[in-house]
Amino acid sequence: MLANQKVYISLVISAFLIFGCKPDTARLTFAVGGASNEIEFWEKIIGEFTDSTGIAVIVLRQPTDTDQRRQGLVIPLRSRQRDPDIFLMDVVWVGQFVVADWLEPLDSVIMANDIDIGNFFEPIIDQVDTYHDKLYALPVYNDCGLLYYRRDLLEKYGFRSPTTWQELIESAVSIQERERIKNPYFYGFVWQGAQYEGLICNFLEFAVSNNGGIIDSGGSMIVHTPQNIEATKLMHDIIYKYSISPPNTYTEMKEEETRLTFEKGNALYERNWPYAWGLHNGEESPVRGKVAVTVLPRANNGQHASTLGGWHIGISRFSDRRTEASMLLKFVLSYETQKNLALMLGWNPGRSDLYEDEDINASVPHLNILKKSFENAAARPTTPFYTQISDVLQKHLSAVLSGESSPDEALLKAQHEIKETLKRYHE
Ligand code: GLC
Repeated sequence: MLANQKVYISLVISAFLIFGCKPDTARLTFAVGGASNEIEFWEKIIGEFTDSTGIAVIVLRQPTDTDQRRQGLVIPLRSRQRDPDIFLMDVVWVGQFVVADWLEPLDSVIMANDIDIGNFFEPIIDQVDTYHDKLYALPVYNDCGLLYYRRDLLEKYGFRSPTTWQELIESAVSIQERERIKNPYFYGFVWQGAQYEGLICNFLEFAVSNNGGIIDSGGSMIVHTPQNIEATKLMHDIIYKYSISPPNTYTEMKEEETRLTFEKGNALYERNWPYAWGLHNGEESPVRGKVAVTVLPRANNGQHASTLGGWHIGISRFSDRRTEASMLLKFVLSYETQKNLALMLGWNPGRSDLYEDEDINASVPHLNILKKSFENAAARPTTPFYTQISDVLQKHLSAVLSGESSPDEALLKAQHEIKETLKRYHE
């Protein structure tokens, strides 16, 4: 990028930040979020896009929390603002954005830009991105919950990586007790228990790995089941009975809090998404080289489960720069950009053709584990009313984790409120 182009873009960004108003000049706004290394990487590759096309782009930095990111997009879209022109969406919002009529259909964009959707995972495109035979979004990366662990500590104390929740608890209790002698802040297991979307993702993994789940074989939502009650009790007991997760699990623990606790050397096991891999092994990381990844544990008679997450790219229907936005979409989804995202950030590409790439397989060890996780991935419902359902369930699960409600009572109430919510939306 030319130096004066960079100055120009930063002036535009400053005007935007200082005055909170939209600068009256032509540019493309791309909303992304995540950990700081993810946003820095976006800025770098978007700079390359600007260099090759001459199209100036403002990278709108959103927070890491998915609920806050959603809010940050819903406000401008509801008021039909032209910015942001193009953005990433959590896999669970795409349905809502389509039904609200906020997304530009991509069929002609695909044709005009020669994008081959045969290079993406068909089931994901069918389930998430297509409505009434029209395509509205495409996956930039797919997420799956993983278990990170301290290889060095398991070796030191003579444990294997756990395959069941029981093994995880036993090893965590034992190692935590001994590590606490020199580190009073050490915990056995950190995961996302705060009241937000991440809690649902973690709950689903406990539930599905215990033969439960929230969608029955007929496609209806069902949460009050013996398997789910047992799973919720386990989440509670991990904090209170076994005391291997910190007391602030239900008040504060989201992805970044969890990652930082583990990275500082204060945890044996961590549940997180693939993005944590690159950061744990970063040059500054105290746990660099000591971390390994595996599938999340299962109940003794259950199967390994991992929640299907991920972020999809779409173009705003209110954008006045849809042609430029389509070019950016093509660039983000190209083999080269997707490969860079996988190599630099440890992300799992949205494109299926990259899973055979030798460089990626050599540098992202969890790619094979992810393939296994995908086999039993727990998808969240794709209903446009998912956010309302998720809010209900978050509230009741949180009541269990804070000790205010029993798993049985909480899931029964959640079941009832979800039914009422769906009735309101005529589902
Ligand atoms: C990750 C996942 C997303 C999920 C969120 C929950 O960003 O990709 O699908 O909803 O975490 O915190």
